[in-house]
Amino acid sequence: MLHEALRGVVDPELGADIVELGMAKGVTFDAATGRAEVTIALTTAGCPLRAQIQKDIRARLGSFPGVRDVHLQWVEMTAEEKASAMAHARWQARAADDATRIPLTTKIIAVASGKGGVGKSSVTVNLAAALAARGLTVGVMDADIWGFSVPRMLGVEGRLEAEAATPPLAGADAEPGSDPSSDPSPRVLITPNRRPMGAGAIEVVSMGLLVEDEGTALMWRGLMLNRAVQHFLEDVQWGDLDYLLIDMPPGTGDVQMGLARMLPRAELIVVTTPAVSAQKVAIRAVDMARRSFLRVVGVVENMAAFTCDHGVTYPLFGEGGGAALAEEAGVPLLARIPIEPAVATGGDTGVPVALGEGPAAEAFRELARLVVEEAVPPVAMAGCSARMLDLAVAALDAEGL
Ligand SMILES: Nc1ncnc2c1ncn2[C@@H]1O[C@H](COP(=O)(O)OP(=O)(O)O)[C@@H](O)[C@H]1O
Ligand SMILES: [Mg+2]
Repeated sequence: MLHEALRGVVDPELGADIVELGMAKGVTFDAATGRAEVTIALTTAGCPLRAQIQKDIRARLGSFPGVRDVHLQWVEMTAEEKASAMAHARWQARAADDATRIPLTTKIIAVASGKGGVGKSSVTVNLAAALAARGLTVGVMDADIWGFSVPRMLGVEGRLEAEAATPPLAGADAEPGSDPSSDPSPRVLITPNRRPMGAGAIEVVSMGLLVEDEGTALMWRGLMLNRAVQHFLEDVQWGDLDYLLIDMPPGTGDVQMGLARMLPRAELIVVTTPAVSAQKVAIRAVDMARRSFLRVVGVVENMAAFTCDHGVTYPLFGEGGGAALAEEAGVPLLARIPIEPAVATGGDTGVPVALGEGPAAEAFRELARLVVEEAVPPVAMAGCSARMLDLAVAALDAEGL
């Protein structure tokens, strides 16, 4: 099980996960002591990404219930193993155009909840805004296909540019005389709507930016009912994102499964209200993530106690749900966002409250700080200026392999 979880750890230099690359050599887990031991084979002992990989492995494995201590052992690959890892990386680089177009240096956070109306979209857009305000580039994928609300909340409502793409390898694979335009479902590449925000920028993709009217909506529905999210994952030309936040549809259905399959490196933030009943529903999202080996980063409690102008606090939606969920899931409670009319008006006007003032704004900014500094730090590529992959490919090509 822990071995599977390591699939969520990618070597951004080699462009594949560490299991695929043969870097995860051995994983043992002693349930009695809670100690996990992992042996990782590096291509070069001095790899500057070692610290990054180490952090990722600790975070991934440490988020599993019962794992108290993650012990890492480093070895160096044999020449043979290295050649095979490089060959795999090279294959991966060629196939990359076919898979998701999300840069490997992008940290992916899915925002989920057991049910709708708990403020999942509000948390997504405000976390995005607070991260952008720190100078980061943040993609927001609105995977709540039919309940989309992200474009309005982030004030990006212009139509998306979508261009038909030549199907991959069309030239090579097409039979002589066949007409590529007869392909019933040509691929459409989507350019996200980009908008500067704070010192950074956001890029948004949503069904709400694709459909013009009911008629078009129906067409999309027919064209790719269950494939919409896959389409968003595969065919969006994201920029150089630091983070991609995914506003998940409520519940624990197909979209979650698809995401886990296509993006095992995604990590999950679960949103709940302070009500205990909400916590019981939210735990399902946690269980689902665990079954798919996605890391649960932590819990955000939204709609926490409202404080009126006179300083009196009213726990309108109950109390303690976030802490209880975090405790049950064995993950940190990352934030408690108070009920504040400004959260709703910010959503209506397209200016997220996180860019303004007040207790909710501060809570969102503190959440962003925790994400960047502790929970899901951005990938630091510093020190890896000589791109190993390019060198490896050049070396292999020189040998005529
Ligand atoms: N902390 C909050 N304070 C006040 N209103 C909120 C807060 N969080 C969300 N809302 C409002 O509650 C409603 C539901 O939130 P939304 O983010 O759309 O939930 P979800 O995406 O989970 O369905 C929206 O009208 C939103 O403006
Ligand atoms: Mg929503």
